[in-house]
Amino acid sequence: MEWTPMADKVGAEATGVDLATIDGEELEALKALVHDRGVVVLRDQTLTPEQHIVLAERWGGIDINNYFPLQDEYPQIAIVRKGADQQTNIGGAWHTDHSYDQVPAMGSILVARTLPPSGGDTLFAHMGAAYDALDEETKAEIEDLKAFHTADHVYKEGGIYAHTDQGKDLRGQDVETGAVHPVVIRHPQTGRRLLYVNGSFTINFVGQSREESLPLLQRLLAAALTDDNQCRVEWKPGTVAIWDNRTTWHNAMNDYHGHAREMHRITLSGDALAA
Ligand code: OGA
Ligand code: MN
Repeated sequence: MEWTPMADKVGAEATGVDLATIDGEELEALKALVHDRGVVVLRDQTLTPEQHIVLAERWGGIDINNYFPLQDEYPQIAIVRKGADQQTNIGGAWHTDHSYDQVPAMGSILVARTLPPSGGDTLFAHMGAAYDALDEETKAEIEDLKAFHTADHVYKEGGIYAHTDQGKDLRGQDVETGAVHPVVIRHPQTGRRLLYVNGSFTINFVGQSREESLPLLQRLLAAALTDDNQCRVEWKPGTVAIWDNRTTWHNAMNDYHGHAREMHRITLSGDALAA
């Protein structure tokens, strides 16, 4: 495997890897690259649904997303879709997946199945670089803080998606979620310190109301999104992206109205998070 950076701080494009057969030391090297760079893009892959599942099982197991539609034949595979007639996409704001779970998913293997003629890129930002760039005063302020995360306002009955044209496609409107995690975590494998709050699922700091939390929370969210801390995944037929939810946030661009986009996602099981 060889790789080149997609941007200075985040992302890698890897070559010389066949995801249909990768195993052993080569798989360990790919995992380490995903943990470190946050997202790895692989081109010209030919993964069948079965091979997609085998890869995820080899990686370390599968979490089933509560909300996305699942493939009939392969319920391990979630469908991330926007139809030509829909306005709202999935993941169209900065977030990290499953931070509302007690043991959040490690990441995802996302396979492009149907792409619009142009647009539909996915942006990634690096939460290790985001933490490193904070001033010392802010680092001290968040050192021992914990935050509460939930997806109830997003996916529950009456939540954000229910008011959009994605509402009819989603499952789990009765599922309730909530989890507390440190604001600064250590990556379970690399040990790097990472900022672990996000604009979609983080509600408040423990011991503070939402209103009390917002000024610092918004300051952290803004500080993480400098231009030099982002990379852009441009999808082509055969592109697969594998990302780490602890190391990164992502944001799916919704700039292809009138065209369908369908991605197949397997969510990879993660580890309990600690400061
Ligand atoms: C996701 C997601 C991004 C995309 O699958 O978690 O946010 O580009 N998707 O489809
Ligand atoms: Mn997502």
